[in-house]
Amino acid sequence: MDRSSSSFKWVSIFILFLAHFATKIIADDGPLPNGDFETPPSNGFPNEAIVGGPSEIPNWKSNGTVELVESGQKQGAMFLIVPQGRHAVRLGNDAEISQELKVEKGSIYSITFSAARTCAQLESLNISVPPASQTIDLQTLYNVQGWDPYAWAFEAEEDNVRLVFRNPGMEDDPTCGPIIDDIAIKKLFTADKPKDNAVVNGDFEEGPWMFKNTSLGVLLPTNLDEEASSLPGWIIESNRAVRYIDSNHFSVPESKRAIELLSGKEGIISQMVDTTPNKQYQLTFSLGHAGDKCKQPLAVMAFAGDQAQTIHYTPDSNSSFRNSNLNFTSKAERTRIAFYSVYYNTKN
Ligand SMILES: *[C@@H]1O[C@H](CO)[C@@H](O)[C@H](O)[C@H]1NC(C)=O
Ligand SMILES: *[C@@H]1O[C@H](CO)[C@@H](O)[C@H](O)[C@H]1NC(C)=O
Ligand SMILES: *[C@@H]1O[C@H](CO)[C@@H](O)[C@H](O)[C@H]1NC(C)=O
Ligand SMILES: *[C@@H]1O[C@H](CO)[C@@H](O)[C@H](O)[C@H]1NC(C)=O
Ligand SMILES: *[C@@H]1O[C@H](CO)[C@@H](O)[C@H](O)[C@H]1NC(C)=O
Repeated sequence: MDRSSSSFKWVSIFILFLAHFATKIIADDGPLPNGDFETPPSNGFPNEAIVGGPSEIPNWKSNGTVELVESGQKQGAMFLIVPQGRHAVRLGNDAEISQELKVEKGSIYSITFSAARTCAQLESLNISVPPASQTIDLQTLYNVQGWDPYAWAFEAEEDNVRLVFRNPGMEDDPTCGPIIDDIAIKKLFTADKPKDNAVVNGDFEEGPWMFKNTSLGVLLPTNLDEEASSLPGWIIESNRAVRYIDSNHFSVPESKRAIELLSGKEGIISQMVDTTPNKQYQLTFSLGHAGDKCKQPLAVMAFAGDQAQTIHYTPDSNSSFRNSNLNFTSKAERTRIAFYSVYYNTKN
């Protein structure tokens, strides 16, 4: 009796140890190893390299013209933009960097990364975890800093996957090409549906990794794949990004996260919700100004099934948001709800 219980104890300690070990080797939520490119290469950063030749980038594999760039570094008359810290990486024509990740097969992961353009022309990035991939257009900037954070999600089809960033461009000037920095990963969960709410992740609390000290939110580019979405439950329709924002840097009506509809009618978020045909429903939501000094007027178009309504946000000195609703009768077992911004707002 004694003997078996003590060996049982040992077995459970051993299992605990194994479980601990197993979770340790799977990519943790947060920055990837050398995801900020601040780890010095063995022969030093390019400007301080004693030996010539290209620097190897620790933790990454590269192919083609991949350069470590430093803040303050000039290209022609222009200073190169380094999103955070001192270093970032620039991808030349058809160049790529990649890193192997240990993940959990079948889970959904979101990759957050910062990207900037170097030249005026259209630049884009192909981000992939084969066979999944997306090409993200970096042409539109949504702030004055010169770079934006982005998120992209994939479903892990294996336990070992390779994350690849490639510049698909073929510019005449080979020094043109996107700069990337601050790469992080987060495993996504879909929250259970509350009993009295048909909307999944309606408070937007589940979403991509956000760096605590980055004040620019995270752009969510077009994503029509409901299964692999950086914003579980939601799809990003049409061809422009929306911005995932946090309560540390924006005013958020409830909890810590919200969505800023920053692309007018080109930035639609939607969800197919389960409904009972011929039943009456009320879609309720909070609408606010996010506290980022956009010029008035602000309004959203809300859709639920065949109902649509424009709701204006009127500034109220007591609150940064207001609650709104839209009543509808469902016609089917799935009903589309959607939102877009009616106006194209600007800032001074
Ligand atoms: C590097 O890229 C070139 C061109 O895309 C390709 O042909 C080659 O196989 C790649 N090399 C490695 C090691 O991946
Ligand atoms: C991105 O690159 C991957 C792998 O190189 C390729 O298979 C895919 O077609 C590209 N995706 C897009 C959208 O261009
Ligand atoms: C942001 O946080 C990271 C990691 O905590 C740190 O390395 C970096 O210096 C910070 N950046 C700024 C601008 O505070
Ligand atoms: C703001 O709050 C004050 C005090 O609670 C109230 O009297 C006033 O009507 C509120 N203003 C608006 C626009 O709701
Ligand atoms: C929807 O119905 C509720 C309850 O009947 C009502 O209070 C609300 O004003 C209605 N909303 C609109 C926009 O008509």
